[in-house]
Amino acid sequence: MAILVSGRDLAKQKKLKMKEEVSTFLSKYKRLPHLAVILVGEDPGSISYVTGKEKACLEIGILNTTIKKPDNIKEEELLDLIDILNHDDTVDGILVQLPLPKHIHSDKVIQSIKKDKDVDGFHFENVASIYLKQPGIVSCTPKGIIELLDSINYPIEGKQACVIGRSNIVGMPVSKLLLDRNATVTICHSKTKDLARITSQADILVAAIGRPKFVTADMVKDGAVVIDVGVNRDSLTKKLCGDVDFDMVKEKASYITKVPGGVGPMTICCLMENTIECFLKHVKE
Ligand code: GUN
Repeated sequence: MAILVSGRDLAKQKKLKMKEEVSTFLSKYKRLPHLAVILVGEDPGSISYVTGKEKACLEIGILNTTIKKPDNIKEEELLDLIDILNHDDTVDGILVQLPLPKHIHSDKVIQSIKKDKDVDGFHFENVASIYLKQPGIVSCTPKGIIELLDSINYPIEGKQACVIGRSNIVGMPVSKLLLDRNATVTICHSKTKDLARITSQADILVAAIGRPKFVTADMVKDGAVVIDVGVNRDSLTKKLCGDVDFDMVKEKASYITKVPGGVGPMTICCLMENTIECFLKHVKE
């Protein structure tokens, strides 16, 4: 029976530490970190994510401005808004909640965010910095996954890791971060043949494919560490569920994360870390 790795608990501890650090900023730097969040439309999932970010800012003492725009906003107007925030010296971090409506080119919008304020780490230059081992902003979910593994003192070096999913936001960067910690990494995806044979050799299995209960017990090695990045709705219960069949896989794994309460809280926690990092860089410039 696996030990549950709680992102919620780790995030709570880390947020308390950040709160302590932030409480010294007003006297040291005469202002507080400030995160601007742009929310386009009224997608319930996006609203819930943005509310989570507002709550975390409030807990830590980071200033937060959420700018809400209707889903028929013109791309140009969104780009103009980002330009204003890029030039606003009181703003340290800018985040545009995804997904955006179809008539807007998401890449163009993300690229328009000043890379030093891109707290999501989605700007091409920040994504590339991971691969080139250059200074940059590491995206929140991959960073949170590594922090979770470190929190259980799991020795990543020398281990076989398997990542299911190859997105630029999670699959690819987390694979690179694991590789940099000297794991041997296999990247799989929905078209991988013989997937279970590959995943069942992994000491660390990261599921980021976006399919409910995709990872079944037969795909998991005895004693593996299983990290579930999925955020899906169970079609029957309509409840939030991950990519891993938690109830079955927990019997085989040594450590496992759960959805909700696993990677999700760590993503928000790392967003707060990135905002503080951007602030400190900004005030020391
Ligand atoms: N939509 C779902 N997750 C995220 C995230 O981490 N950042 C942004 N900007 N949009 C998201």
